[in-house]
Amino acid sequence: MQAQQSPGPLQSLDEWEDDVQARYPEPDKAFVPHKDTAEFRNYEKSTRPSVREFYRINHEFQTFDFVREKQREYGARNRKEMSIWEAMEFLNTLVDDSDPDTDLSQIQHLLQTSEAIRADGHPRWFVLTGLIHDLGKILCLYGEPQWAVVGDTFPVGCKYSDKIVFPDFFSANPDATHPVYSTENGVYEPGCGLDKVALSWGHDEYMYYVAKDYLPESALYMIRYHSFYAAHREGAYQHLMNDHDREMFKWVRAFNPYDLYSKSPVPPDVEALRPYYEDLIAEYFPAKVAW
Ligand SMILES: [Fe+2]
Ligand SMILES: [Fe+2]
Repeated sequence: MQAQQSPGPLQSLDEWEDDVQARYPEPDKAFVPHKDTAEFRNYEKSTRPSVREFYRINHEFQTFDFVREKQREYGARNRKEMSIWEAMEFLNTLVDDSDPDTDLSQIQHLLQTSEAIRADGHPRWFVLTGLIHDLGKILCLYGEPQWAVVGDTFPVGCKYSDKIVFPDFFSANPDATHPVYSTENGVYEPGCGLDKVALSWGHDEYMYYVAKDYLPESALYMIRYHSFYAAHREGAYQHLMNDHDREMFKWVRAFNPYDLYSKSPVPPDVEALRPYYEDLIAEYFPAKVAW
């Protein structure tokens, strides 16, 4: 079995997701809404050094030029031909420094998300979206560093919002002082729609490329924008959205609780669930997909 580690300060990719969950605690479990700045400052202070370092590097290197280069590179989708299930098994070969005794496998994580969606009676495409939304993390297995695979996503080519986590780290990003990229609208027209806006590179955009010919638009919004917390949780970047984006973001927000709060220590039975999911995958995707 191939065993690779993703270069970067995080012990595992899950460390970033755990941090997002700490930033946005499940409503039932939090006594105060997360909006006020004092609480946000507390969050920043209590963030683990490895995660803070991860955000620092991410914010420094996610430039407009970098993103456009990655869009070109991965937009060609000429790396592999794999079925969706094969991609899940491929992602499972990702080895990191987290504790193998207590941590669930990547496939188990995917199934926990999709099973939570299924348990709530959502449509089949929604269940499938839960299953595949993080498969773009195979970018790590191509040697991409953690900061170009996971992390909150945000537009590049225009001003970095102070609603993005750890906004001060953008001061090291050359685009932050660029004459065009540092302006409110940057290279974009106001209200142009998110489809025209380049977001920081990571697993979300990559998986969107892979899925875009096969899933309904609501599913594609969920996949493409699930880490865009500055927009779907903080309401930033309204000036670049159009009315259609605002309408479709209802789906992004409907998806987010399943992404953040479906983790449980009880591992799903992968082999028992596999036939159901193989059928579901075959309903939407061809036998082999270009990655
Ligand atoms: Fe994700
Ligand atoms: Fe996820």
